[in-house]
Amino acid sequence: MSPEPDAAPAPSLTLADAGPPPLPADRGPLSAAVLGALRHAEPSRPPAGLSDARSADPWGEDAQLALYVCYELHYRGFAGVDDGWEWSPALLALRGRLERAFLAALRREVGEPPPLAAVLADLLAEPPDGDGPSHHLLAAGTRQQAREYLAHRSLYHLKEADPQMWAVPRLPNPAKAALVAVQYDEYGAGRPERAHAELFAAMMADFGLDPAYGGYLDVVPAPALAVVNTMSLFGLHRALRGALVGQFAAVEITSPPGAARLAAAFERLGASPRGTLFYREHVLADAVHEQLVRHTVIEPLLTGTPDRPGAPDRPAAEIAFGALAYTRVEDRLADHLMTAWRSGRGSLCRPLPPPSELAPTRTQLEGSPR
Ligand SMILES: [Fe+2]
Ligand SMILES: [Fe+2]
Repeated sequence: MSPEPDAAPAPSLTLADAGPPPLPADRGPLSAAVLGALRHAEPSRPPAGLSDARSADPWGEDAQLALYVCYELHYRGFAGVDDGWEWSPALLALRGRLERAFLAALRREVGEPPPLAAVLADLLAEPPDGDGPSHHLLAAGTRQQAREYLAHRSLYHLKEADPQMWAVPRLPNPAKAALVAVQYDEYGAGRPERAHAELFAAMMADFGLDPAYGGYLDVVPAPALAVVNTMSLFGLHRALRGALVGQFAAVEITSPPGAARLAAAFERLGASPRGTLFYREHVLADAVHEQLVRHTVIEPLLTGTPDRPGAPDRPAAEIAFGALAYTRVEDRLADHLMTAWRSGRGSLCRPLPPPSELAPTRTQLEGSPR
């Protein structure tokens, strides 16, 4: 995707040297067991609290944070945590219990998926009476609510496209080649300063937020963690590669109208051009990506025989499940945000400090005219 001709000057890189984030505080016995283990220098030490994984609410703060922390070891890890924990058998065993509970909850939530064609058609139909967060932010949202929204979204968008990369070696060609073509755009099409994660970091800075990777993990509640955990769950399991393709398709199909609303909302709330570029870029890019994902990723997977090497089992049903599971976790986050905002409450675990009280950022953000 070539940049818009009138695009604002891109910021210089903000994320490359930020380093891994600090460990968050625990939210219950499971996350305490995981975090307690990670603070230990010896990666083979088994985390305590294994027996609690089965009875915990898979949507709850404790289980979602524990799962998020386990997954983050496969991305950038945490400051002061030994990289060897990524493949600790004891920690992987605990993660497996958390994942099985979460996946079962997602399958219960979705039920038996309808035919894939109906699922994709539903996603393409923008509801005329939408009342979710992007509608609210456009019509009546405050700047503080926009800042909260960005903090929630920062956990994914500062590593945008990373969870979907796990699927690349797991897909047969030509679906693999098509997925990589989309991912090339997500990472800036050869221009690191245009990577979508970088555009998001610039938008955060424009709203007086710290764009450091993972910097808001401690204040982001379970509904937003579940959105990212769904992608990591699908991405990290070869058996779920069909669901990952469905999740990816759901994002690309539904993104353009919401991105257009958010760009307009943030402009109304006083954002500078760099504070809307991320969403303006997605209005254009995802209209193209949606076509690529549907016609060059999904269709080749469906036309292959079920036992074709690399093709998922029950490909259509699994793609439909992934798209619907992602829609459900997004709906849960939207409900959480709107319930909080309608009752005059903040939507994060703790209020954000006003921009003037920001601590020095872990990153350096500088304008860099091109
Ligand atoms: Fe993107
Ligand atoms: Fe995209």
